[in-house]
Amino acid sequence: MEITKNYSFHGELSIPGDKSISHRGIMFGAISNGMTEITNFLQGADCLSTISCFQQLGISIENNGTSVLVHGKGLHGLSEPGKTLDVGNSGTTTRLISGILAGQPFPSTIDGDASIRQRPMKRIFNPLSDMGAKFQCWDPAYFPDDKKAISPNCAPFTIQGGALKHIHFNSIIASAQVKSAILLAGLYADGITRVTEPALSRNHTELMLAGFGADIISTGTTAAIRPEPQLEGQLIHVPGDISSAAYFIALGLVTPGSEILIKNVGTNPTRSGIIQAALAMGANLTLLNEHTESGEPVADILVTSSDLHGVTVEGAQIPTLIDELPILAVMAAFADGTTMIRDAQELRVKESDRIAAVTQNLAAMGANVTPTADGMIIEGGKPLHGTHIQTCHDHRIAMSFCIAGLNADGETTFDDEGCVTISYPSFYEDIQKLAL
Ligand code: S3P
Repeated sequence: MEITKNYSFHGELSIPGDKSISHRGIMFGAISNGMTEITNFLQGADCLSTISCFQQLGISIENNGTSVLVHGKGLHGLSEPGKTLDVGNSGTTTRLISGILAGQPFPSTIDGDASIRQRPMKRIFNPLSDMGAKFQCWDPAYFPDDKKAISPNCAPFTIQGGALKHIHFNSIIASAQVKSAILLAGLYADGITRVTEPALSRNHTELMLAGFGADIISTGTTAAIRPEPQLEGQLIHVPGDISSAAYFIALGLVTPGSEILIKNVGTNPTRSGIIQAALAMGANLTLLNEHTESGEPVADILVTSSDLHGVTVEGAQIPTLIDELPILAVMAAFADGTTMIRDAQELRVKESDRIAAVTQNLAAMGANVTPTADGMIIEGGKPLHGTHIQTCHDHRIAMSFCIAGLNADGETTFDDEGCVTISYPSFYEDIQKLAL
């Protein structure tokens, strides 16, 4: 695939379902009584990994390609998997399922792709071990034929669950995956489990679990859950993923002469930092038709081409746009002045090291960019030229640099453009639909 700048972009677009909410719908449906129906389910590879893991755990799940039916078996209805649970590329599957498996009276083994095998799991092993679960990591060189135990805190690993103690965990990172793993284990604990984080991360677990009937309360940055609720299957309509919408926000803003209406996007304030950041950069961006669906705020987003200027993003803002920082960096390269991204060291342990991936690819396109330990500094306004993008097999790097390539001189090519299927299988078709 070669990308060149030939277009302005116009029209309306419905964005596929939210990845975080789709994962949770399967998981919470599986441990609820009766049927959960999930409409606008994201058919990305990560969410399909979650489906197949829960099928391995004895849950019947029907997927017709748009909506999904989960035949839940209640909090104690999962059964021991016959083989290793393959989470593919999905960190959310790995960490959230571990919270559920911590409460099961059987062992489960989890493995994934090369990226998952490098992602830090100590952040969930420590609190879940404090609650009583046991973890054993395996050396990938011997796995699975001749399992050899090692100490590093990555997949592949086996988790032996059982009776759990409640804890109050003070997390040093604002991570919804860590928070959710502990809250899910808290469903099986002997008292109220609490998690406090340094800044509020996405709260889909708290909102959706409450909708299924859990007794869960959030106060500031602390969430508390009571064990052994009767969870009941629900009808979940998944809003469009703001993380996917972000590429079209950027496309509409930086491509001259463009206007795009992005419909039905989830605008939960714990996720919508990209909207605030874009507005702070001078974006012509308007929220229309604001309403609530399945407990989550939703709106249409209208963007028109704008003269952007640099911005600083840091502190408590970072968890609200953590997955959008690669595309924000691309927007910053087209903006006048300096953009600083700080307090975002978590970017180093995503599907790839996104500080390295973004700064190296932007520099290869001619941008003036400096990586830092916890972010980057971008001096915007230099014209970009096409190059061969190293995606690091990271869907968000591929999509971000597709948007950059559509606004760069010359040709942009990719080592692995197909990795977008992780979160947005129809990404290139959707771009094509808007091209004039
Ligand atoms: C997610 C939480 C975030 C985010 C990821 C999805 C979730 O990860 O980056 O893409 O669904 O809970 P962290 O919790 O590790 O920050």
